[in-house]
Amino acid sequence: MRKKLFAANWKMFKTPAEATAFTDSFLPHVANQSKAEVVLCPSMTSLGTVIAAAKGTQVKVGAQTMDYHDNGAFTGETSPLMLKAVGATHVILGHSERRQYFNETDTSVNLKLKAALAHSLIPIVCVGEHREERESGQTNEVLKLQVEIALEGIDAAAAAPLVIAYEPVWAIGTGLTATPEMAAEAHKFIRAEIAKALGAERAASTRILYGGSVKPDNAAALCALEDIDGALVGGASLDPKSFHDIIRNGCA
Ligand code: 13P
Repeated sequence: MRKKLFAANWKMFKTPAEATAFTDSFLPHVANQSKAEVVLCPSMTSLGTVIAAAKGTQVKVGAQTMDYHDNGAFTGETSPLMLKAVGATHVILGHSERRQYFNETDTSVNLKLKAALAHSLIPIVCVGEHREERESGQTNEVLKLQVEIALEGIDAAAAAPLVIAYEPVWAIGTGLTATPEMAAEAHKFIRAEIAKALGAERAASTRILYGGSVKPDNAAALCALEDIDGALVGGASLDPKSFHDIIRNGCA
């Protein structure tokens, strides 16, 4: 009942011309597939280009971050209102790189999540532990706090579109992946935390993606697990064939 979702997080890669080259090659492969939801998250400067290219296809387009105000004197920021106006449908919130380099906190993620839901943007909220936290046995404690604070004051009905991405920080861009056992355990734990905040029914319908060095050759094993509902892909989503292979293998 949970449709798989594969989201490409291009991070700070690709000019609009490079984004166009990607969509020209990628879209014909996935434009009509309906097995999974496919989302491309380019940088802000390529958002319009990719939205125009994907128009009329099944492929959706999202942003990698946003502010939570509708507008205001916040130099450099982009609001949910603006994302909606250009045709974005999804937004990644609380990515570990935003937390690490741009002072994103669980509290700001909570505010942004409320704003995204209020503007009917589909939020992809990222959580995940650092290597030292895993090694010292704190993984569940960290995930619990991140989920708990992100979902504080959120109404279960309003949270219907919510997507969570479990991205162990030590697996991002390192070539290290959580073993299927580790991922399965973390996803199950996160779902139980969602149930505490939003009830069992909403937890059962919430998609939880895995992210962290997902590649065509590990996508099938990860996505076959019961609580893994797709992937949030960084490096391997920059190449159209490799992202397409991840979607195909992940849906198999
Ligand atoms: P990689 O797939 O490059 O490890 O990045 C994962 C990620 O951060 C997706 O948001």
